[in-house]
Amino acid sequence: MDSILKIIRERRSARVPFDRERPVPAEHLRAILDAARWTPTAHNMQNFEIVVVDDRKLLDAIANIRSQASEVFIRENYEQLSFSDEELRRRKVGLHGQMFPPSWRMPSLTAPFDEAHPHSILGEAARASAALLVVLYDPRRRAPASEGDVLGMMSLGCLLENMWLAASSLGIGFQVQSAMSGPDVEAEVKKLLGIPDPLRIGFACRIGYPLVEPEYLRVRRDLEDFVHRNQYGSKTG
Ligand SMILES: Cc1cc2nc3c(=O)[nH]c(=O)nc-3n(C[C@H](O)[C@H](O)[C@H](O)COP(=O)(O)O)c2cc1C
Repeated sequence: MDSILKIIRERRSARVPFDRERPVPAEHLRAILDAARWTPTAHNMQNFEIVVVDDRKLLDAIANIRSQASEVFIRENYEQLSFSDEELRRRKVGLHGQMFPPSWRMPSLTAPFDEAHPHSILGEAARASAALLVVLYDPRRRAPASEGDVLGMMSLGCLLENMWLAASSLGIGFQVQSAMSGPDVEAEVKKLLGIPDPLRIGFACRIGYPLVEPEYLRVRRDLEDFVHRNQYGSKTG
């Protein structure tokens, strides 16, 4: 097995279609779910349920849900975008605008929903997946005294990372789909999957074998950009 640091470095978002006809072998799916099982969670609450969706009819039904990015999303997404490799390298944070449809690359939502340029990316991505892992949580069960259940949400983040690293180490493509918990999508997905109230969808991950190599510029800040030694503002040198 590769060293954990190598797996961390090589983990990436696979924003590409996956082979619909190539399922993830049962033992690999089990390994990803076992990585989920051993997630560290606040108070060991294990505050998650996972619905594995690999039924083609259900994947297609989810793909057919019409979802539109909100005005807030379009505006705040825009703030994270760069419009050239050079700009993204300089900023070292955020994403390249190219990975979004043109209607998402504007500072505001300028047009109503347009079938030719839908604001949704859920559709085809969900369809082009071997499976979806839909992660649920119960908002009534917060981590003790954790305001806004920040600790519970962090625990879901740990779950995400555990599954992602496990999938990467097995050569399985992985993409987070936050849109699955969006206001217009969540209710429909819950209905399709028989998820009872008050459970909420935290996020979903699509997994499978990429049909093409994910190719886009990925940037990170340098250590000295965010590490402070003893006093805030004192750099590691
Ligand atoms: C909580 C969370 C939510 C995310 N939501 C999405 C998403 O909805 N769609 C997507 O393509 N990537 C999503 N990502 C992936 C990030 O955009 C990605 O990790 C980041 O751009 C760094 O790129 P990398 O994963 O290739 O290293 C999410 C990541 C996290 C941790």
